[in-house]
Amino acid sequence: MTERREVAAAALTQNGRLLIAQRTYPPELAGLWELPGGKVDEGETPETALSRELEEELGILCSVGSRLGSEVLLDHRYVLRAYRVVLLDGCPAAHEHSAIRWIELDELDAIDWVAHDREWLPDLAELLREE
Ligand code: C5P
Repeated sequence: MTERREVAAAALTQNGRLLIAQRTYPPELAGLWELPGGKVDEGETPETALSRELEEELGILCSVGSRLGSEVLLDHRYVLRAYRVVLLDGCPAAHEHSAIRWIELDELDAIDWVAHDREWLPDLAELLREE
């Protein structure tokens, strides 16, 4: 079996809040909220891929840190992994999403999440509690 391609997602926190982004595609995910990120291209590390995606999608420069939570198998082709991320420069803007939001710990559960990202809610809660 060939190895699954990674989709890397950012748990970007600042001042006790987490950045989330609202998807525009595919139709079944449009309107749902996710940790921003994207596919790791050939020759990239998850860290370089996630930095690139965050620059493209949100116009920000970030430092990608350690893994957060468990990996989530999307289908036979993809595996989704989250990473702790710190904002280095810029102010996030929704270039490829329909909206972005900074949320606090007590808002986590009520968000209309992309189903796979819900797996990380306990880890995200712990991360926000540490902030
Ligand atoms: O963002 P992109 O379309 O490249 O992501 C590929 C797939 O990974 C999406 O279709 C979605 O199913 C999944 N994904 C996810 N949660 C994220 C980011 C991506 O479930 N935070």
